[in-house]
Amino acid sequence: MNRPNPVVALYPGSFDPITRGHEDIARRALRVADRVIVAVAQTSTHMKEGLFEVQDRVDLIRAVFEGESQIEVMSFTGLLVDLARDKGAHLVIRGLRAVSDFEYELQMAQMNQELNSALETLFLVPEVSNSFISSSLVRQVAALGGDVSAFVSTPVLDRLTAKFRE
Ligand code: PNS
Repeated sequence: MNRPNPVVALYPGSFDPITRGHEDIARRALRVADRVIVAVAQTSTHMKEGLFEVQDRVDLIRAVFEGESQIEVMSFTGLLVDLARDKGAHLVIRGLRAVSDFEYELQMAQMNQELNSALETLFLVPEVSNSFISSSLVRQVAALGGDVSAFVSTPVLDRLTAKFRE
């Protein structure tokens, strides 16, 4: 199989909101891809109710990666494999933090492989200092008035602060 040139990677997720762990993974992905598309899903396999609207999440991610031209941001509806075809992407990037992530990630990777055998899922490991951060914990800690400034970038922190002041 020929290696595609340029290498385009999709980094899909809920990103509700994007954390420093996600940022780390997106930047690491540029070590193996020429372009990374951070793709915010309208439909997540396991998330029920979101805190931020999908468009707000996209705007926040754009603010976080401002000036980093190899990282694009978009939202998508429908299947990830269809987006990959549309965008000419052959790689799906997912972060693996702990063993507890593994079963869910393996299932999704194998389903995507069944749906499109040309799509490879690549798991990247975040820096140790980011490995316990999750959007759900950030949402909960912020909602209860805790300090999440170490876990999210400034635009996200500002939005969280405004949201929970409402
Ligand atoms: O951050 P999340 O919620 O764990 O991300 C899950 C996501 C969005 C990557 C996954 O649910 C997804 O790809 N959704 C798009 C719809 C789809 O393709 N579903 C089948 C995936 S096996």
